[in-house]
Amino acid sequence: MGRVAIVTGGTRGIGEAISVALKDMGMKVAANYAGNDERAREFTERTGIAAYKWDVSDFDACQEGVKKVEADLGPVDVLVNNAGITRDTTMKRMDHQKWQDVIDTNLGGCFNMAKAVFEGMQGRNYGRIVNIGSINGQAGQYGQVNYAAAKSGIHGFTKALAQEGARNGVTVNAIAPGYIDTDMVAAVPEEVLAKIIAKIPVGRLGKAEEIARAVGFLVDEQGGFITGSTMSVNGGQHMY
Ligand code: CAA
Repeated sequence: MGRVAIVTGGTRGIGEAISVALKDMGMKVAANYAGNDERAREFTERTGIAAYKWDVSDFDACQEGVKKVEADLGPVDVLVNNAGITRDTTMKRMDHQKWQDVIDTNLGGCFNMAKAVFEGMQGRNYGRIVNIGSINGQAGQYGQVNYAAAKSGIHGFTKALAQEGARNGVTVNAIAPGYIDTDMVAAVPEEVLAKIIAKIPVGRLGKAEEIARAVGFLVDEQGGFITGSTMSVNGGQHMY
């Protein structure tokens, strides 16, 4: 059966690799994005996966967006909450906006999207939700009080929602990526990034496809007994 999946932030970076992996598993995939129309158009041309534009930090937009996807593809079986932003700076320079934007998008987005699909999944006795957390939500990171708090929140959100979904076949898991070769990591100053890579036992950045592979494992039909877990995919940088 062709399951229906939504991947937020699904047209670029880790999200793009996840969208493609789920399509390759035979799913009907909707890739959500918030801003970059040009990249979304290229993505759809290249992959044949439809892109849907809405801002995951906007609760109403998420409810509407999911309705549109369901009208086009059918009820959502799989949700991957991948959309995320950084506004890195030290506490001294972090204004309230930088805090709020990251909390609203990275953590609020998970709630807004789960709210739109969770009851339907429970009613149909099947669902797979994967939330993309971060090594920096597990270990903290200098210059990321906003991002680390949001990602850490995602790990708690995952464990709580997993308990609510368990009786109805809805699994909820998290992945905690380490430093992956994407635009987000490329924005880290070169000398800072070099020091970070020097601390990764595997000796390199991860690839987006290596995260997508882990998502594919968790959303598999056979994954019904894996719930509330966090899978670290970080080249050994943080063993948790
Ligand atoms: N621990 C202790 N001190 C540190 C430090 C660290 N990890 N990093 C920097 N410092 C110190 C510096 O040595 C420097 O001290 P001095 O002034 O005494 O020399 C001081 O803090 C200021 O450092 P910077 O010159 O780097 O300051 P800045 O204001 O230019 O930049 C920053 C600060 C924006 C936080 C920058 O250091 C930075 O971008 N760091 C990387 C943050 C990061 O890893 N982000 C991850 C983005 S990718 C992602 O988030 C994906 C994921 O899930 C993994």
